Amino acid sequence: MTNTAIIGAQWGDEGKGKITDKYAKDADAVVRAQGGNNAGHTIVVGGKQIILHLIPSGIMNPGTKNICGNGMVINLEVLTEEIEQLEKEGVDFSGRLAVSDRAHVIMPRHIEIDREKDKGVGIGTTGRGIGPAYCDKASRTGVRFCDFLDGTLGDKLKKNFGGVSGDIYRRQMELFEKIRPYVRDTSVLLHEMMSERKNVLFEGAQGTMLDIDHGTYPYVTSSNASVGGICTGAGVSPRCIDRIVGVVKAYTTRVGRGPFPTELGTEKETDNETRKWTGEDDRKLAEGDNYTRGKFLRRCGPKDVDNEYGATTGRPRRCGWLDLVILGYSNRINGFTSIALTKLDVLTGLDPIKICIAYELDGKAIDHFPASLKELERCRPVYGEMPGWKEDISKIREYNDLPDNARRYIERIEHEIAKAEMISVGPGREQTIFR
Ligand code: IMP
Repeated sequence: MTNTAIIGAQWGDEGKGKITDKYAKDADAVVRAQGGNNAGHTIVVGGKQIILHLIPSGIMNPGTKNICGNGMVINLEVLTEEIEQLEKEGVDFSGRLAVSDRAHVIMPRHIEIDREKDKGVGIGTTGRGIGPAYCDKASRTGVRFCDFLDGTLGDKLKKNFGGVSGDIYRRQMELFEKIRPYVRDTSVLLHEMMSERKNVLFEGAQGTMLDIDHGTYPYVTSSNASVGGICTGAGVSPRCIDRIVGVVKAYTTRVGRGPFPTELGTEKETDNETRKWTGEDDRKLAEGDNYTRGKFLRRCGPKDVDNEYGATTGRPRRCGWLDLVILGYSNRINGFTSIALTKLDVLTGLDPIKICIAYELDGKAIDHFPASLKELERCRPVYGEMPGWKEDISKIREYNDLPDNARRYIERIEHEIAKAEMISVGPGREQTIFR
């Protein structure tokens, strides 16, 4: 039995999906413990691309159970839609999906509040009602799945929400009927599985720098995306987790607003960018100014593949150099036992490659990550430069076949965090180097 947690080490979108898929093959259960449909994970079923936002990644392995833990906030509309979509593709859910009776439900009002509030606050949320649902949870006025089961939903909505329209109430009840067979105490299920020495995979969503406690607050999501969120959000002891794999992208990205010390170009330039490929020459982008090098990272890969555009919102992601200050911080919080390094192929052609090794704050070098956004704004990244490589690495499967400079880059990261047990050199499942 080995229980593994997969955690995003940066601002989310590290490519956790591919890494999770690999581990999910050996897992008897895949568990999501926090977040909701702000996450997105693309899978291919029968040649068709499907983006999963709520259902854990084990759903394509017939023998694997998929558990939505108590720490999640779930939109019934989205969950039923995902189930129906996969059922149409022949996926059998019976006995394979469990939803915690303690998980909270995102109500239509949460979505309205999120969109309205974000216009003023400007976090750049995904607009899925995540923050307001967690807000009600913390205020003890939220709605949980068990409220649908025990018949108290109507009273709770009246008391906590000042009531909802008959249409909304009926729609939520109707949607719940589809989910009812899957609702149960998932912590009990997990403990039963663990006592039978089954392998459990905990699938983190978002990333450590978006964690509500440890991230760049207030530009964060509303749950604990670092490893602590697994224990509270699934109802398991820290002693149950054997391995903590940090997923590290070979450079840095973030979506939405908030500080980003190693950003290439500005947030505004990225926001204005059109998604359509406009025929730029890759090499020219790689040799250009900061903004075009950021664009190079965003647009890299085959011309019809948009490398860094959000799976959930389609927004262009802000791109920048790898930041070891962030990674050291993330490692301290999560205690990674190893890392999975993703998207190394995207760096091919950039020369030199910069790595942020410290921040300079008011003339002094610091290597910790400040809590205060004001301080963070004054931090200037201190870069080290490493020579890049030009060879196509996307077909390499053996570590020793990588160009020397690519290996040096990996070893620099390992020196800071932990051994890279997987290195991803392309989007395909087979484009992975194992060590
Ligand atoms: P929320 O989670 O919708 O409240 O959004 C809060 C912040 O987290 C915004 O900056 C989002 O862009 C970001 N965020 C939420 N989920 C993800 C994710 O899965 N990947 C990357 N960023 C995310």
